[in-house]
Amino acid sequence: MAETRRITGGCLAIATHNPGKLREIAELLRPYGVETVGAAALGLPEPEETGATFEANAQLKALTAARASGLPALADDSGLAVAALGGAPGIHSARWGGPEKDFAAAMRRVERELAGTTDRRASFVAALALAWPDGRVETFRGEVHGTLVFPPRGTRGFGYDPIFVPEGGRETFGEMEPTAKHAISHRARAFAKLIAACFGAAA
Ligand code: IMP
Repeated sequence: MAETRRITGGCLAIATHNPGKLREIAELLRPYGVETVGAAALGLPEPEETGATFEANAQLKALTAARASGLPALADDSGLAVAALGGAPGIHSARWGGPEKDFAAAMRRVERELAGTTDRRASFVAALALAWPDGRVETFRGEVHGTLVFPPRGTRGFGYDPIFVPEGGRETFGEMEPTAKHAISHRARAFAKLIAACFGAAA
């Protein structure tokens, strides 16, 4: 298994239509000699995210792209899971921002729904799925735990960053240097697992 899942050179489809994400992933994989091509350039459809978990949605996107392109394909799915809200917004994190992607409103909704509880624990979660055209798929999960603060603080980052303080820190992800966030983020942790399993030097 360790050999069949190793990606050495060649071209990898990135199952995202988000140019920012595509650029970030391409940069992360360049040192491993992997060429990347985005979903839009391949003319791939954007499948509906019908899964019940981050992993299921990442797998769905990666498998759809791998089958349609004939290339190995990588997809991710991520979000904020709030303990006192039973893990919400979770896989619906992007949707809470609405069509306008209004995360100030999404953060106010989190605050409103937390009224009546003092539990402010939350985690950011990222799932990465790597799929092959023959249907094989592997998933890697990264998490960062922390607490929520209101009102939001900081103008860096995106989404729910201004209300999330990672464990052991005092600044929100919205206040931190981007490099400091990227060193500990859920996405970085999922990528580290993916790279160790599939892109590192052969054992
Ligand atoms: P998706 O993975 O593109 O479906 O988007 C997940 C959503 O979760 C984003 O729109 C953000 O609202 C939120 N999210 C995921 N990762 C982060 C992060 O690092 N900071 C802030 N919000 C995030």
